[in-house]
Amino acid sequence: MTGNLRQTKWVIHSDRKILDEAAADILIDVLNKVQNPVIGFATGSSPLGVYQSLVKRSLASPALLERWSHVHGFNLDEYVGLSEQHEQSYHAYMWNHLYQFLPVKPENIHVPNGNGDLISNCLAYDEALAEHGWPDVQILGIGKNGHIGFNEPAQTLSLHTHVTDLTENTRSANARFFTNEQEVPTQAITMGIADILQARQIILLAFGEEKREALIRSFSGSVSTLCPASFLQMHANVTVLTDKEVPELK
Ligand code: GLP
Repeated sequence: MTGNLRQTKWVIHSDRKILDEAAADILIDVLNKVQNPVIGFATGSSPLGVYQSLVKRSLASPALLERWSHVHGFNLDEYVGLSEQHEQSYHAYMWNHLYQFLPVKPENIHVPNGNGDLISNCLAYDEALAEHGWPDVQILGIGKNGHIGFNEPAQTLSLHTHVTDLTENTRSANARFFTNEQEVPTQAITMGIADILQARQIILLAFGEEKREALIRSFSGSVSTLCPASFLQMHANVTVLTDKEVPELK
């Protein structure tokens, strides 16, 4: 094991279901232990099984279900220019896949606002994050190009919530959710790298062969703005859940 790997915890299993449950275990532990938990949520296909597990387990336990009324949820990112009602907005994603099943308080739910005065929206989002004390746990997926949130590979990275141009790589990866690639927004609002690293605990979900290369680049030792997920090596409490062996990292 390298020094980096000693710090990062790895859960590797070929069965996705087991990984979904392992991620849900971490989140439920936070829900049970923290009085007013702040949870950083991600979108995309990777967390869907985790959200299904959270809903199923919460509906089976009145005590756990009640905990959701104390949750403050913060999403990583949102497309610019989609209305909240657009079925591919991350607002809609969160309500469709998670919040509608749980007794969350709408006023405690935060997703960046991708419409109107974007600069003010970014500042307001960081202020809200700081006011609530930053996430107790942050869920992350990873892009094939190593992006986290919508922090795309670049010569420099922004620390805080900002507007970003989406790379062609990301737009074409996300085209599967839209009728065609032209419909994929060209910009997004995303929490920055420093915002993400503020979380007390981070869960990174990386499923499928297509994410293996990004994992290797992220955890192979050097930290680079050209692979934003590599900054996770600087965090003391990251758990990577993956269904692919990564012998390159041993
Ligand atoms: C998207 C999101 C990320 C997500 C990533 C991977 O574009 N902005 O937050 O983690 O890409 O998505 P998926 O889980 O669908 O592979």
